[in-house]
Formats: sequence, C-alpha cells, structure tokens
Amino acid sequence: MKNTQYGYPYLGEPRAKFASSPSLEKMSERLVKSTERVRDLGEVFTPVAIVQDMLNLLPLDVWQPHPARTFLEPACGDGNFLVAILTKKLEAVLNAVAVVTDHQQIEVTRTLALESLASIYGVDISPDNVIGGTPGHEIGARERLLQIFSDWHAECLDEKLESDNPILLSAKWIVERNILVGNMLPFEVDGRQSGRARIPLVEYSWNPENAEVSVFITTLGAVMENAEAEVGDAPLLFGPTPPKHLWTGNISELYQVETERATGKRGRTDGTPSS
Ligand SMILES: C[S@@+](CC[C@H](N)C(=O)[O-])C[C@H]1O[C@@H](n2cnc3c(N)ncnc32)[C@H](O)[C@@H]1O
Repeated sequence: MKNTQYGYPYLGEPRAKFASSPSLEKMSERLVKSTERVRDLGEVFTPVAIVQDMLNLLPLDVWQPHPARTFLEPACGDGNFLVAILTKKLEAVLNAVAVVTDHQQIEVTRTLALESLASIYGVDISPDNVIGGTPGHEIGARERLLQIFSDWHAECLDEKLESDNPILLSAKWIVERNILVGNMLPFEVDGRQSGRARIPLVEYSWNPENAEVSVFITTLGAVMENAEAEVGDAPLLFGPTPPKHLWTGNISELYQVETERATGKRGRTDGTPSS
C-alpha cells in the first residue's frame, strides 16, 4: 500500500461512519459536576453538539491520518473535545484505507489508528478528570479515549481487543503519556513557577508500511520554545532543543519501551528505520 492512499488530505465525508460508543455522548450530558468545582476550577464542560459544530469549522485536511495533525487541549476536562477529535480521526482512517482485507492492510490500518490516538494530547489540573476512578468521576479522559479506540477496533477491524492484547496495551501506554495531570498556567497561586515547562511530552514518528513507531521525549517547555521561535521574530539564543530519541520498534511492543530499554533486549534505540 502506498503512502499516498492515506497520506493525501482527507476529502469528503467518510464512506462508513464509525458508530462511536456512549463515551462520546457521555450518556446523560453532565456539564457541571458541582458548584465548588465551577468556583475552584472553572469547570463547565462543553456540550457535545457545540464541540461538533466547532470541529466542523476546521478544514477537512486536518483529519488526514498520516502524517496526523497534532491537537493539544490545555484544559481538557474529562475529554469532550479529545474524544470527538479521535472519533473524527478514526473515521478518516477508514475513509483513507480503501479495503481492509489482508493482514498487511489490517496492520497498516491499525498503525494509522494508533497514530491518530497518539496525535492527541491533553492536560488538566484535576486528576479526577484525567484519570477518573473516584466517586463522581468514575471515567476520566484517558479511559474515554481508550474506549473509543477499542470500540473502533472491534467494529472496523472486527477484532475485540482483550485487556492483555499488546495493541490495547500500546494504546494505553499512549494515553497515559499524552493525557496528563498538570497546571497549564505559568505560576502557582503563591507566585512560584508552576513547572508547566517541565511537563514531559512524548513525540512519535510512524511508519504504517512496517507497523513501526519511533518514540522521542521532550518537554512542553521545549515544544513551546521551538514553536515561538518558528512564528516569532526573536531567534533562540542556543537554537531549538531537539526531542531525544528513545526507541524504535513494532507498534505491538510500544507498551514495553521502558522494559526493553532497561534490558537492552529488543526494539532499537538508535533511531534507524527498518529495512
Ligand atoms: C471550562 S472547563 C473545560 C473542559 C473541557 N475543555 C470542555 O470543553 O469540556 C475548564 C477545565 O480547565 C481545568 N483547569 C482549570 N485550571 C487549570 C490549570 N491551571 N491548568 C490546567 N487545567 C486547568 C479544569 O479542571 C476544567 O476541567
């Protein structure tokens, strides 16, 4: 399969619309959790219909599967925008891959789906919103994204992923690194620096042909500094800070990056693409 089949801008509506799970609809839409949270966190969630209207204003090529466009939501709440973005991206994956029949096409499609997931970043100051699992905040943004990914996989690739499936574990690895608890304001209430610049970020480079991914580490501070240098007039004193290459390997081994690095067993840490 050639890059151009999925690399070209996404054009038109998807031929098969992915019927996303209630994660997108959030069952009954709860826009406010409590008056205390509105007061302390400014927490009022955006209704799904408004999220959709806003995303529909974007040019269609932002949904192209490869190379996937990056989205960062700096106050993501429990993920209303993130799940809608992922759903649109996954619809575009199906639209871009002509017919999914043989094993290689399934691998390509699956890699594009993971690439879609990995192109979405979110930060929120409230662990309840990101991680969930507490009374009144049972499902956080990470879990909602995983649910969308796993429903899509079952529906579109006809394979329900069990909890120990390496692809689902890799998807989990991605959301745990992309959707973070953090303060996106530069200062704490007492005037100390917030540590926003040190928020760790993982960057990815995907090779759908070989079902491979390279992983790099950087910080939000470095990403913001480099972006400012690109658009601003002031050149950086020491030049841009490049992300550090961590690992290259098969998508099904992504969740083992740390183990593989520690044991030096598998995957490649030199950044060379496979032949
Ligand atoms: C108005 S809600 C928006 C939530 C989500 N973006 C949506 O549209 O549904 C604002 C969110 O910002 C988060 N928040 C408040 N202060 C923050 C900060 N300093 N850094 C990061 N997130 C913050 C809150 O926890 C809350 O989830």
